[in-house]
Amino acid sequence: MNTSLLTVTDLVKTYPGRGGPVRAVDGVSLDIAPGETYGLVGESGSGKSTLARCVLRFTRADSGTIEFAGHDLGRLPERELRRLRARIQIVFQHPHGSLNRRHAIADIIAAPLVAHRTGSREARAARVRELLDLVQLPAAIARRRPRELSGGQAQRVAIARALALRPEFVVLDEAVSALDVSVRAQILNLLAELQRELGLTYLFISHDLAVVRYVAQRVGVMYRGRLVEQAGRADLFGAPRHPYTRMLLDAVPVADPGRQRERMAAAAGGGDPADDTPVTGCRFRPRCPVGRDDARCATEDPALTAPGGSATLVACHYPDRTAAGPPSTPSTLESR
Ligand SMILES: Nc1ncnc2c1ncn2[C@@H]1O[C@H](COP(=O)(O)OP(=O)(O)OP(=O)(O)O)[C@@H](O)[C@H]1O
Ligand SMILES: [Mg+2]
Repeated sequence: MNTSLLTVTDLVKTYPGRGGPVRAVDGVSLDIAPGETYGLVGESGSGKSTLARCVLRFTRADSGTIEFAGHDLGRLPERELRRLRARIQIVFQHPHGSLNRRHAIADIIAAPLVAHRTGSREARAARVRELLDLVQLPAAIARRRPRELSGGQAQRVAIARALALRPEFVVLDEAVSALDVSVRAQILNLLAELQRELGLTYLFISHDLAVVRYVAQRVGVMYRGRLVEQAGRADLFGAPRHPYTRMLLDAVPVADPGRQRERMAAAAGGGDPADDTPVTGCRFRPRCPVGRDDARCATEDPALTAPGGSATLVACHYPDRTAAGPPSTPSTLESR
């Protein structure tokens, strides 16, 4: 019996692109344990949100399976799928953009309850008060509109809404990336408290490696639709095995997420990551300091494996050639 809460197996999702189909997610397998925070990193366009959208069933994968709490989402009848989907929620990057500006906060938080026909009007109002308390907002906020809220308050509202149906699994897709540093720390603390109190499991997607290092127990690194490395936090940050992970760690994080994104792209060679698929071999090869001129890397696409039976999984023919020196990622958050 599988003890994971979420098991993704060989997931593939393509989108039509200018030069033919883009394999946004190209054969990803991973599993996430109950109560765990799994960090997912990778440059813009690597497929992180697409993976999340497939898990949330906002979109259907081309192939592969997604199992949640022992149920294959692809095989569930519509009604059961609907019930199961309530247990998986998401918080997006831009708090204001994700809240309907014409609605009062109380209605925004109650919307999932209404959609799932949960409770009477009174019961829903009581639940909204409870949720506001849970995310540490004053009850009076219920009557306000999104535009009257700060970014941090709006993100607390988005979190309250995500928790309305008592999910077990929450996808945080760049959920703190747009916030000021001090507000970000507060929201991260809140997320950690909620996780402890409610036993939540998080898929934490972020460009900010310092934040991922702070919150995640395990980290997956995506490169152009593939998981290229997966490791426990200490191993990933202390002894990266994939040259791409190493590059990400060497891209010195900066406070501004937009600039961080640019730097990550620059570290990986720049350009649109979807544009230069090598026809054969490793997809990272054109940018790779280790295998750029290697015959095996030119012909053989490396599978994700555990070198020497390690806990780290890596998709590289030469995992021992990636220097295990101390990465230069300072963590501004760890000192707290
Ligand atoms: N709805 C869509 N239609 C067409 N192509 C899409 C769509 N959504 C994503 N893509 C493409 O799929 C690839 C992966 O995109 P995705 O949004 O999953 O990346 P990401 O890792 O979340 O990036 P970011 O860090 O910028 O959020 C990209 O090449 C993107 O252009
Ligand atoms: Mg995304």
